[in-house]
Amino acid sequence: MHRIYRIILLGAPGAGKGTQAEKLSKKFNIPKISTGDSLRAEVAAGSDLGKEVKEIMNRGQLVPDDIILKLIRNRLKKPDCQRGYLLDGFPRTLQQAEAIEEEGIGIDFVIEINISDAEIIKRLSGRRVHPASGRIYHAIFNPPKVNNQDDETGEPLIQREDDKEETVRKRLEVYHQETEPLIQWYQNLARQKSSPQFVQVSGLGSVESICDEVIKAIQS
Ligand code: AP5
Repeated sequence: MHRIYRIILLGAPGAGKGTQAEKLSKKFNIPKISTGDSLRAEVAAGSDLGKEVKEIMNRGQLVPDDIILKLIRNRLKKPDCQRGYLLDGFPRTLQQAEAIEEEGIGIDFVIEINISDAEIIKRLSGRRVHPASGRIYHAIFNPPKVNNQDDETGEPLIQREDDKEETVRKRLEVYHQETEPLIQWYQNLARQKSSPQFVQVSGLGSVESICDEVIKAIQS
């Protein structure tokens, strides 16, 4: 029988969570659940929720906890989550982390990808994405096979609205204030209980070497 993996990827904007989530979800055959991708899909569809969150996201601020928690609860009810899941960009506030702990939403591993603010600014200015699939590229570090085209569909890549330098700086400020305290919180939780285990990996190095390190930590 396959082991079930329920994983949180924690880290600053641009740390490489989405990039690693893509690889890990294939490796462990579990769905990648990105709150950022789900919210961007709502914005693109012009739904009521999309209209409500668009400006918040473009300002680099966090969407209210109640909206995010509703989104996650609904997503985790889907049948594909029975074989595990990979949460990319959730939780990002203590309230979100406490809510899933209280609700008994199982988590086996919290993986923190650690990287400096300076490196993040370099990375996010070169990021390009394929909006329909969420596939992530970088103009220099992880280029598509054909310039500005998605490798699988050939469709054009775009730059995210919130990747402008000024917004990236705001997102980093919000990260340090709201999300970074979760590192300590999960480290404390790991000391008190056998799960989730807390693992820190450096976000510097090749995409493959970071992925190998995460897999090794999870399977050890
Ligand atoms: P979200 O989409 O989650 O954005 P984020 O957390 O800011 O993270 P990013 O997607 O920017 O970065 P990443 O760590 O995934 O890095 P990536 O792999 O792309 O959230 C967007 C917004 O939605 C938030 O600001 C907020 O408003 C809202 N939101 C979402 N979740 C929320 C929540 N839970 N609560 C409240 N609000 C929420 O990599 C970045 C770049 O680097 C890419 O170009 C990539 O190719 C490149 N790269 C990756 N790895 C490497 C490497 N090893 N070496 C060199 N380059 C690399």
